[in-house]
Amino acid sequence: METGRKLALRQRQVLFFFFLLRLSLASARELKRYSVVEEREGRSFITNLVNDLGLGPLELSKRGAKVISKGNKLHLQLDQETGDLLLTEKVDREELCGHTEPCLLRFQVLLDNPLDIIQAELEVTDINDHSPVFLDKEIQLKISESSLPGTTFPLKNAQDMDVGQNGIDNYIVSSNSYFHVLTRKRSDGKKYPELVLDTSLDREEEAELGLILTAKDGGSPPRSGTTKVHIEVLDINDNAPQFEQLYYRVQVPEDSPVGFLIVTVSATDKDIGVNGEISYSLFQASDDITKTFSIHPLTGELRLKEQLDFEKTQSYEVNVEARDAGTFSGKCTILTQVMDVNDHAPEIILSAFTNPIPENLPETMVAVFSVSDLDSGENGKIKCSMQDDLPFFLKPSGENFYTLLTHKALDRESRAEYNITITVTDLGTPRLTTQHTITVQVSDINDNAPAFTQTSYTLFVQENNSPALHIGTISATDSDSGSNAHITYSLLSTHNPQLALASLISINANNGQLFALRALDYESLQTFQFHVGATDQGSPALSSQALVHIIVLDANDNAPFVLYPLQNASAPCTELLPRAAEPGYLVTKVVAVDQDSGQNAWLSFQLLKATEPGMFSVWAHNGEVRTSRLLSERDAPKHRLVLLVKDNGDPPCSASVTLHVLLVDGFSQPYLPLPEVAHDPVQDEDMLTLYLVIALASVSSLFLLSVLLFVGVSLCRRARAASLGGFSVPEGHFPGHLVDVSGAGTLSQSYQYEVCLKGNSETGEFKFLKPILPNFQDYPLGPELGENSNCRNDWELGIQLK
Ligand SMILES: *[C@@H]1O[C@H](CO)[C@@H](O)[C@H](O)[C@H]1NC(C)=O
Ligand SMILES: *[C@@H]1O[C@H](CO)[C@@H](O)[C@H](O)[C@H]1NC(C)=O
Repeated sequence: METGRKLALRQRQVLFFFFLLRLSLASARELKRYSVVEEREGRSFITNLVNDLGLGPLELSKRGAKVISKGNKLHLQLDQETGDLLLTEKVDREELCGHTEPCLLRFQVLLDNPLDIIQAELEVTDINDHSPVFLDKEIQLKISESSLPGTTFPLKNAQDMDVGQNGIDNYIVSSNSYFHVLTRKRSDGKKYPELVLDTSLDREEEAELGLILTAKDGGSPPRSGTTKVHIEVLDINDNAPQFEQLYYRVQVPEDSPVGFLIVTVSATDKDIGVNGEISYSLFQASDDITKTFSIHPLTGELRLKEQLDFEKTQSYEVNVEARDAGTFSGKCTILTQVMDVNDHAPEIILSAFTNPIPENLPETMVAVFSVSDLDSGENGKIKCSMQDDLPFFLKPSGENFYTLLTHKALDRESRAEYNITITVTDLGTPRLTTQHTITVQVSDINDNAPAFTQTSYTLFVQENNSPALHIGTISATDSDSGSNAHITYSLLSTHNPQLALASLISINANNGQLFALRALDYESLQTFQFHVGATDQGSPALSSQALVHIIVLDANDNAPFVLYPLQNASAPCTELLPRAAEPGYLVTKVVAVDQDSGQNAWLSFQLLKATEPGMFSVWAHNGEVRTSRLLSERDAPKHRLVLLVKDNGDPPCSASVTLHVLLVDGFSQPYLPLPEVAHDPVQDEDMLTLYLVIALASVSSLFLLSVLLFVGVSLCRRARAASLGGFSVPEGHFPGHLVDVSGAGTLSQSYQYEVCLKGNSETGEFKFLKPILPNFQDYPLGPELGENSNCRNDWELGIQLK
């Protein structure tokens, strides 16, 4: 469009040139020049042509003066009356001429009659009606922080429509501590700003700057335009990483697991990007530390690689380095204190131990031991205790040492073994406890004598025993042990010096069995006593005694012995019986004794043989021989009676008595009454009745006796067939027809005898009968009488008649 316009303008100029050429042919005048200021409002007076051209006052109108502007750009008006040339509208120099300077516009003044063309130029002068303008609203700059002071950074210039003085004059920048701006002129004359670095930049201090750049023109008053300058400071690696803390103090329990996060260290680098990328590592770490710790290169987490042990190492000093991508690095130190955890139980170490300990000792040392705990602090403090129901106590002796002592003398017999449990506990949390059991044996001391099970023993021996018969066992116990309890039995003294104990009794030293060495004889020794001793084998040995009573039991081994009538007389004793004797007349009384005792000495009498049967009767229980009928002249004068005296033993023993009775006529006294019976007639009557009764009784008792005899004989045979093993003494009531002759009281007063006490035996324990009847050979027993072969007839002991 503009070029179109320019083309048209050129065409006009060519036409105009030809026109001028015609004009110049007509007249040639010099160029008139005028000027006007742009942007003037309303009509502007340019010049008065009348005056300029030197024309008369009406000449202009007469000659038809015209003003022609090139392309009718100018709105010029000519006042033909006055000759004033006026500009009728506002003109804009920038529009008309742009940056062309000076801005000249041609116009002609045409005059006719004669034709005259006057050339004129109008110069439009500039006023400062435009401000400088930056094309960019913001200028972006990137400047490395390493740029040196003095470095320049050219910037884009601003533009100003005005020209000349009113064009851009200089640039200024808002106040800052880094830059100033220089206004430079290009070869074409345009001015541009140049930023100059005054002091070094520091990205870490100011990563970006915002400046205002102002362009000013030279008008009056000056106009200005601004733009922003944004400067980004580019990083270089000029900062070392820095830890938040130089020292970290951490406490780690020793039982922390592997992988436990101890601490996270953190370092920062003021640089950015790769310059600020930090990696952590252990610095100058010993083997111990590299084994124990690991650090994460990116997060800085320090973790446990291995279990800690307070007892080995209490603290670690870990150096950590933080390094950025460049060469810079920073260091920090982590002081790791290991905290003790009660992870060790206390220990007991026995250093001395006496076992066994003898009983009966006062306060004795049993053991010495030490206690220890590897932990420290409260975790390592130890309390030591034991059961309190034992006769032992603990005594602290020195640091961590204890002595175990007995409280009092121990008694092995009440307790021979103690299990002492020593408990050690530390004071940590939780408490850890160790127990140790010491078994203490109490050794024996011979402090207990053997003790018999009874203080006295009573042993019964049947007489006539077989030699070496076991008669009983004594027994003692000893509460000691071992040889202190090994008991040896022995026979001790007897009170009776005449008793040859050693020949009678022996004892088994090991088991206390008592033996009768030889056959004992009840009749010679009914009882005796002696002491036995029990001795242990301790050192010194202890012993104790017990009394043993031996009671010899009677066996029916003695036949009854007839005291009256004497049976060894060469001329046997003869009883005289008056023929006039009434029935029941007491002829004599057979007196017999039996050296046995009890039932074996209960005697019964019976008439065995008589010259004339039925004439005499024998009272079974007292041996009285009485007539049983009236005597007559026809009766033979001489009678021989054989009586059997039998004891109640089992089997029984018996003896026979031979009586000689002589009937006499001249015996003045027909009836010999019993001494105690008084004679009066009334009594005679009674006596008669009595005799009748007696006769009856005698008959019946004879019958009874024979029955008994029969029974007795058969029993005797049966017993004998049973080989006579034991000598049992039947206890109980004796039959009424038997008489006990073991005591003097049972004999009738007329046959009292005195028992002689032998020798110097004051105790009267033993009765000795002196043999007065040498033999009974003259009086053989019938076959049915000598059945009991145990019965002895040879008297060893004698009895004296009074
Ligand atoms: C002591 O301990 C041992 C072994 O445990 C046991 O055999 C014994 O009976 C205990 N003794 C006492 C007196 O408790
Ligand atoms: C009968 O025995 C007694 C006592 O031993 C004696 O004293 C007496 O002389 C003896 N008589 C005859 C005849 O042997």
